Amino acid sequence: MKKTEIVIDKNFIVSKVDRKIYGSFIEHLGRAVYEGIYQPDSPFSDEQGFRKDTLELVKNLQVPIVRYPGGNFISGYHWEDTVGPKEERPARPELAWGVIETNEFGLNEFVDWAKKANTEVMMAVNLGTRGVDDAKNVLEYCNFKEGTYYSDMRIRHGYKEPHNIKTWCLGNEMDGPWQIGHKTAYEYGRLAGETGRVMRLLDPNIELVACGSSHHGMDTFAQWEATVLDEAYDVVDYLSLHTYYGNRHDNTPNFLASNVGMDRFITDVISICDYVKAKKRSKKKINLSFDEWNVWYHSNEADSKIEKWSKAPHQLEDVYNFEDALLIGSMLITMLRHADRVKVACMAQLVNVIAPIMTSDTGAWRQTIYYPYMHASVYGNGTVLNTIVKAPVYETKDYGDAPYVDCVIIMNEEEESITIFAVNKDLQEDMEISCDMRQFADYKVAEHICLSHEDLKAENTESNPDNVVPFVCSDKVKMEEGMLTGVLGKKSWNVIRLHK
Ligand code: AHR
Repeated sequence: MKKTEIVIDKNFIVSKVDRKIYGSFIEHLGRAVYEGIYQPDSPFSDEQGFRKDTLELVKNLQVPIVRYPGGNFISGYHWEDTVGPKEERPARPELAWGVIETNEFGLNEFVDWAKKANTEVMMAVNLGTRGVDDAKNVLEYCNFKEGTYYSDMRIRHGYKEPHNIKTWCLGNEMDGPWQIGHKTAYEYGRLAGETGRVMRLLDPNIELVACGSSHHGMDTFAQWEATVLDEAYDVVDYLSLHTYYGNRHDNTPNFLASNVGMDRFITDVISICDYVKAKKRSKKKINLSFDEWNVWYHSNEADSKIEKWSKAPHQLEDVYNFEDALLIGSMLITMLRHADRVKVACMAQLVNVIAPIMTSDTGAWRQTIYYPYMHASVYGNGTVLNTIVKAPVYETKDYGDAPYVDCVIIMNEEEESITIFAVNKDLQEDMEISCDMRQFADYKVAEHICLSHEDLKAENTESNPDNVVPFVCSDKVKMEEGMLTGVLGKKSWNVIRLHK
C-alpha cells in the first residue's frame, strides 16, 4: 500500500479560518432564484414565496454569506426595477443570459430570504452599463439610515431599518469580452477606484472587492490584476478570482488534479497583490475573494439549445457525480491551505444553477458536491495548521506531478477539537497515512466520515437522491500515544474529527 506522512506543529499556523470562505452565490440566472429559492405557487413555499425545502438544505450548509445578484447578470442590472410594489416592477430583456427578467423577486426579497437562511448578503454593483452614481444610490438605499431620497424610498418600501450590507463587489468579470460593458484593465481600475472611493464616503464601514481575472488562463491575466490594483489599491480590500473545472476528456486523474491549478492561481494572485503593495510602499494587504469556484461543464450542450427570451429556463443545470465531489473536497482543502489570504470564497452557485442543491415540483435534493461543502463549512472552523503532506505523486496531462493525497488540518482550541480533511485520489488503492500528533496526545478519534462510491460517475438525482451519501468509517484511523495512523480508502473524501 502507498504511504503518506503528514507533518504538523501546533505552533506553525497558517491563519484562523474566516468563515466567509464557505460562502455561496445566487445569480438571477436560470432557476436559481425562480423555482430555486422563490416559488410562490409551490406547496413547499412559505408566506413570502420562499421555498422552505431549499431553505432547510441551505441552513444545513451553514452558509455564512451569499453573493447576489450576479455574475454576468449584474452588468445590466437596474436595482430600482427590483424594489417597491411588485405589480409596478417592469419586466426587462436580460442581455447577459438572453432571457426575460420579471423582477418579481428583487433586492429586498433577497435580504429577507438571507435572514431566513441565516446568512449575510454580499452585494454587487453594476459597473458594466452603470457607474459611480448608481453604486452610490444603491448603497444609500441599502445602508443609509433615513432622511435622504433613497433611504426614505427604502422605508416607504417597508424596510425601516437599513440592510447594512457590508461586503460589496465592484462589478463582475470586467476583463471578459463577454461581459456587458467590458473594459480594459485601466478603464476598469479607474472606475473601480472612483466608485469605491465614493461608496466609502457614504459608508466607511463597507468592504470592497475588485474584479481580478475571470480565470487563470485569460490572456490579460496578471497585467489585469497589476493595473487594476495600481488604480484602486487604496480603496479595495479584496481582489476576486474565479475558476471552473471540467472533466471534458474523461481523464479523471487529470481532472482530480485541477486543484493544483487552483493552488497556482492563488499563489500567482498573492504575488501580484504583494508586488503592487511593494511598489506603492503600502502597509495595507489585499486579500483574496475566490467568489466563483466549482465544477462546470456537464450542462454546456443543453445550454446551447435554450430558447431565447424565455423565463427562468433550465440553464446551467449540471448534474454532479461522485468524482466532482472529490474535486470539490480538494478545492476546499486548497483554499483552506491559503486561509491567510483567501478570506472570502463563494461556491458558484447555490441552487439549481451549477449548484449543490436542486429543486423540482416534488421537492429539493442534495447533489454529490453538497457533502464536502457542508462538511467543510460545519467542521472547518478554527486555525489552519501548516500541513506538510508527504504523499506519492502521479503524472498528469495538465498539471505535472500531482499528489495522490490532499490534506489540511484545522485546530479548534475553543472546542478542543481537531479536524482533518483529506482526499485520496488514488483510484485503485487505499492509502496508509500517519501523523505525529504527540502535541495532541490526549486527543482521541471521535469520528471518521467518508464519501466514496464504486462508480466515479454515480449521481444523486430526483428519483435517486441518496445514491452518493457520506457514511461513517469505523476502525480505519486510530490515535495511539499521539501517533495518528490509518487508511484512507481509494477515491475518497475524508473528515477525521479528534476530540480531547
Ligand atoms: O456562475 C455563472 C457565471 O460564470 C457567472 O455569471 C459569471 O460571473 C461567470 O462567468
